[in-house]
Amino acid sequence: MRWSAFWQLLVALAARGLAQPAPTLCDDEACRCDSFTRLICNCTTDFGEVTLRPDGAYRVPSTATAIIIDGCARVHFLPDTVRGLIQLRNVEIRNVAYAVFNERSLAWSPFSSNSDMNPGIRITIHNSTVNEISSHAIQGRVNDIIISDSRISNLKPFAFSSLTGVKNIELTNNIFDNIEIQSFKKFSTLNFMLRGGTIGTLPSRFLSDVEVSNLFRIKEVTIKHLSSLAFLVNSPKKVFIESNVIDSMDGDGFHLASRGPITFRNNTVKTLRKGAFFGFTVDMDVLSTLGRQELVLDNNTVMYLNPTSLTFNRTTLTLRVDGLNLNVECACELAEEWREVLKEQGGSITCWYELENHYVSLPTYVDSRCGTFKQNFWIYVVVGVIIIAVAAAVSIFFIVKHENEKKKKLQIVMPDGKTYRETEFHIVVERAELLTTDL
Ligand SMILES: *[C@@H]1O[C@H](CO)[C@@H](O)[C@H](O)[C@H]1NC(C)=O
Ligand SMILES: *[C@@H]1O[C@H](CO)[C@@H](O)[C@H](O)[C@H]1NC(C)=O
Ligand SMILES: *[C@@H]1O[C@H](CO)[C@@H](O)[C@H](O)[C@H]1NC(C)=O
Ligand SMILES: *[C@@H]1O[C@H](CO)[C@@H](O)[C@H](O)[C@H]1NC(C)=O
Ligand SMILES: *[C@@H]1O[C@H](CO)[C@@H](O)[C@H](O)[C@H]1NC(C)=O
Repeated sequence: MRWSAFWQLLVALAARGLAQPAPTLCDDEACRCDSFTRLICNCTTDFGEVTLRPDGAYRVPSTATAIIIDGCARVHFLPDTVRGLIQLRNVEIRNVAYAVFNERSLAWSPFSSNSDMNPGIRITIHNSTVNEISSHAIQGRVNDIIISDSRISNLKPFAFSSLTGVKNIELTNNIFDNIEIQSFKKFSTLNFMLRGGTIGTLPSRFLSDVEVSNLFRIKEVTIKHLSSLAFLVNSPKKVFIESNVIDSMDGDGFHLASRGPITFRNNTVKTLRKGAFFGFTVDMDVLSTLGRQELVLDNNTVMYLNPTSLTFNRTTLTLRVDGLNLNVECACELAEEWREVLKEQGGSITCWYELENHYVSLPTYVDSRCGTFKQNFWIYVVVGVIIIAVAAAVSIFFIVKHENEKKKKLQIVMPDGKTYRETEFHIVVERAELLTTDL
């Protein structure tokens, strides 16, 4: 009995020892938790490394309302890190040199009902290099996703998927190295904005089945290749694609059903392939109530394109070209090629006029330069000049010749030693006869 009592005591002591709270990330040397139960990791040393895990020692405390990480060299979010953090509202990462988000690491859906009235989390990444956002890394009830001035090396399929109640997705001044298909998959957001920065290839289904209910904007982005079906988007009220520099834009790159006008403005595109605008269309409800919507092409500069690049869905849209600079030298054949479009769009299409070093309206160029007479104008001028020159030469030749003959033939030397011209000849003869009779 004594022995069993001893063991009981030992077990009780051991149990008490286990009940001692295990250290959480609040106890990590780089991190602390403040009075708002925010977890703040501010790496001040150059080698600061933080791993965020859902359980075990140095887990993220379950009471965390925010996870704020600043200046760390390496940050690693393990799977399911935020799943149990019901108080969480904010995940913020700044100035991090290397971050990885594993699968489901930011999957957060603590509420059984899917109402947008439930609170959501805000995810901010600023001035950081994200090595990877894995498949399904970000899911659930997310209010905002704001990524700025960062580099995203790998964006996996379904990286942002199954989201609910999203208000804003803003991707500003980022460099995207490698984007895989369907990285934004099947959810609704109020606004989607891609602004500034550089993207190599936007693959097919970059946005796949994404409903944007208010604003869809792509602005000032440098894109090397925009693949066919890169944006499978529906419902935006406003669509602006402006001031981008795009190397090549495939046919049907935007498969987008809008609820309002679509503006494609001030873009510089090197190659605009056949049917580049053909995927734009209008939501059926809007079409039946408000009629066709306008597709506006304003002040774009394109080098390689032909009229088929501008084909559009005529049953749902009307096209207004407010400015299209064909970045090729003006030529009369160009007008021939663009005749159909010019008939509808008039003088807003311009071509490069090498002589004057600026763009001129293609119809104006045609009026002043084309047509058989105008095209051959200089030939006529040259031929005319040659004819006049020859005629002048021939006339001068005959005049000179005539004058010379006149001089030779008509000069007569009379006995008195004087030279008389032909007009005086008869008079001289009469006088000579008179002298003869006297003798
Ligand atoms: C981290 O520390 C730096 C320098 O002390 C400070 O500027 C910054 O605001 C801190 N970040 C956070 C999230 O507290
Ligand atoms: C951006 O983050 C890097 C670390 O990745 C840091 O060295 C740099 O100072 C940060 N820049 C600014 C403006 O905070
Ligand atoms: C037009 O786009 C160019 C970039 O191609 C940009 O520099 C310029 O500011 C834009 N102009 C307007 C009026 O947006
Ligand atoms: C038209 O496009 C050219 C070339 O991108 C740009 O320099 C100019 O600022 C644009 N003008 C307007 C009014 O947007
Ligand atoms: C135009 O858009 C409507 C509605 O999206 C679609 O049903 C139709 O097939 C499109 N027309 C053409 C010629 O693609």
